[in-house]
Amino acid sequence: MDKIEITGGIPLEGKVRISGAKNAALPLLASSILVQGPVDYTNIPDLMDIKSIKMLLEDLGATTETSGSNIRIDASAINKAEAEYDLVRKMRASILVLGPLVARFGHARVSLPGGCAIGARPVDLHLKGLEAMGAKISIEHGYIEATTSGRLKGCEFYFDVPTVTGTENLMMAATLAQGTTVLRNCAREPEIIALADALNLMGGDVSGAGTAVIRINGVEKGYCGKRSGQSLDSASIHVIPDRIEAGTFMVAAAATKGDVLVQGGEPEHMGGIINKLRQSGASVDISEEGIRVKGVEKIKSTDIKTLPYPGFPTDMQAQFMVLMSIAEGNCVVHETIFENRFIHVNELQRMGADISISGGNYAMVRGVKSLSGAQVMASDLRASASLVIAGLVARGTTTINRVYHIDRGYESIEKKFSSLGAQIRRC
Ligand code: EPZ
Repeated sequence: MDKIEITGGIPLEGKVRISGAKNAALPLLASSILVQGPVDYTNIPDLMDIKSIKMLLEDLGATTETSGSNIRIDASAINKAEAEYDLVRKMRASILVLGPLVARFGHARVSLPGGCAIGARPVDLHLKGLEAMGAKISIEHGYIEATTSGRLKGCEFYFDVPTVTGTENLMMAATLAQGTTVLRNCAREPEIIALADALNLMGGDVSGAGTAVIRINGVEKGYCGKRSGQSLDSASIHVIPDRIEAGTFMVAAAATKGDVLVQGGEPEHMGGIINKLRQSGASVDISEEGIRVKGVEKIKSTDIKTLPYPGFPTDMQAQFMVLMSIAEGNCVVHETIFENRFIHVNELQRMGADISISGGNYAMVRGVKSLSGAQVMASDLRASASLVIAGLVARGTTTINRVYHIDRGYESIEKKFSSLGAQIRRC
């Protein structure tokens, strides 16, 4: 099993280019199910999760052609509307095929994703939304069975809580439904806007993405006019940059007191991250060239509260906690999105961080002078990224076990950090 070994204490310097966003690419690739023809995608990141969803689409009967970061998917020949447990358990975002499958075929059988390290991760709102659109939902033997007689129907649906993949699933389903769907209390992430833009390029009619209210008018045509059931049209889709990968490198630059130019990111998507980095004393300069982050000797503590977008993203909480662990002073990290997203704390404590958890969702971080390298265990994607940053700042050597977690969401992470001067290698 791969490990990553890091010798810390080296300020990162240089330029790093950001890849396409994992959390944009996954729903975009799932939306190919809505099209009875080819869809071309560019700037797809080379990640384990992308391989997983490609395997799932191929298992359904779609064909895929990959050339570098470009992928063509043709879902015309899909002959199965069932996502098997073995494929879904590898990546819970597989739930994103549910909405498109029900919308196109009138039925779907998708394994319940189950929980993961950071929380129970229910999908009840995905299911309630499809029921509101006329689907009959049952759960048998760990599978979601969804069926409709005829087409899904447009509806008004209010999400109890803003859910990213829930919003994406229902937005996709509604593009082929009969009539208009209005979704309220939607998630507002940039990845939602990117999906809406893609659905519109495919001939869909989606408005309001990025706000709490999204309106979708179902299409009334087959593929390019052929009346073979409802379908969107072929299109070419470019994937937006990964704001969490960009944020990870920006925090690493600040934590190692380095000077890094992050290229290809979209600052507009990173307001919460940039705001907190500046509050910690780092300088963040935005120009045509990219986002330049320079660390400071005395890092300032600042409280963090994770919130739905545009608040500070939960996917950056673990990484930022490392920066706070070597700051001057104390801060409180309040995780409001997931119930168990402090798994990295134990590993950081083993490296000398002074962190205590209270009430399950609050962590008190008392800044220490430095961390010390240790053998640590990766547990989930973003916790693993925080351990890489900790290894980069720690005195001595850190070995991170179970790095397959990192490969799910970061493209060639050790190569990118090496290009910034880090002493990091996979072994
Ligand atoms: C997406 O997960 C992201 N994954 C996550 O990124 C991210 O952490 C999360 O959004 C929050 O921003 C993808 O986009 C593939 P949610 P998602 O549904 O959609 C509750 C990473 O590291 N909820 O927005 O699964 C849920 O329990 C991953 O890249 C329900 O109660 O998250 C949570 O408390 C980790 N019922 C809150 O909503 C539902 O039906 C937000 O979850 C759905 C969600």
